[in-house]
Amino acid sequence: MSESAVRGRDLFFGKAQCTACHVGPNLTDETYRNLGVGMDAEEPDLGRYVVTKAEKDKGAFKTPTVRNAEQTAPYMHDGSVATLEEVVAWYDKGGHPNPWLDDKVVPLNLSAQEKTDLVEFMKACSGPFPPVETARLPVD
Ligand code: HEC
Repeated sequence: MSESAVRGRDLFFGKAQCTACHVGPNLTDETYRNLGVGMDAEEPDLGRYVVTKAEKDKGAFKTPTVRNAEQTAPYMHDGSVATLEEVVAWYDKGGHPNPWLDDKVVPLNLSAQEKTDLVEFMKACSGPFPPVETARLPVD
C-alpha cells in the first residue's frame, strides 16, 4: 500500500470511525443503517422499514462492503453518489440530516489530505474476498 493508503487505513479504523459499521473480514457489520441517502426526496425509499415496519428502520439500508468499491461506482442504494471522493465528502459533512439518521454518522472535519488518504485506502481494498469459513456441522 502507498503511504497515503496506510494513513487512510488508520483514519478508517480510527478518527473517521468507518469501522463503526464497515467492520469484519468483508468490512460490513451486515446490519441496516440510515445515512440519510435519498431522504430529501419527496417520497423517500424507506429501505429496511418496508420489510420490518419498525420505526427505527426508516431509511436504513444494509452496510455494503467497501472491498472492490473502486470497481462498483456509482455508490449507495440509489446510485446517487458518483465517486469515492464524493462518498467521503458525504461522510465528512455528517450524511443528510433526517429524524432517523444513525448516531454514528457525524461531521468529521477531515482535511483535504485526509479525504484523499481515505479514498486511497479504499482503492487498496481491491482484490479477492477473503474466505469466511463457516463452522463444520457436527457429525455424530
Ligand atoms: C453508521 C454506519 C456507517 C458508517 C459510520 C460508515 N458507513 Fe459507509 N455505508 C453504510 C451504509 C448503511 C451504506 C449504504 C447506504 C445506502 O445505500 O443508502 C454505506 C455505503 C458506503 C459506501 C458505498 C459502497 C457502495 O458499494 O455503494 C462506501 C464507499 C462507504 N460506505 C465508505 C465509508 C467510509 C469511508 C466511512 C468512514 C468515513 C464510512 N463508510 C462510514 C454505513 C456506514
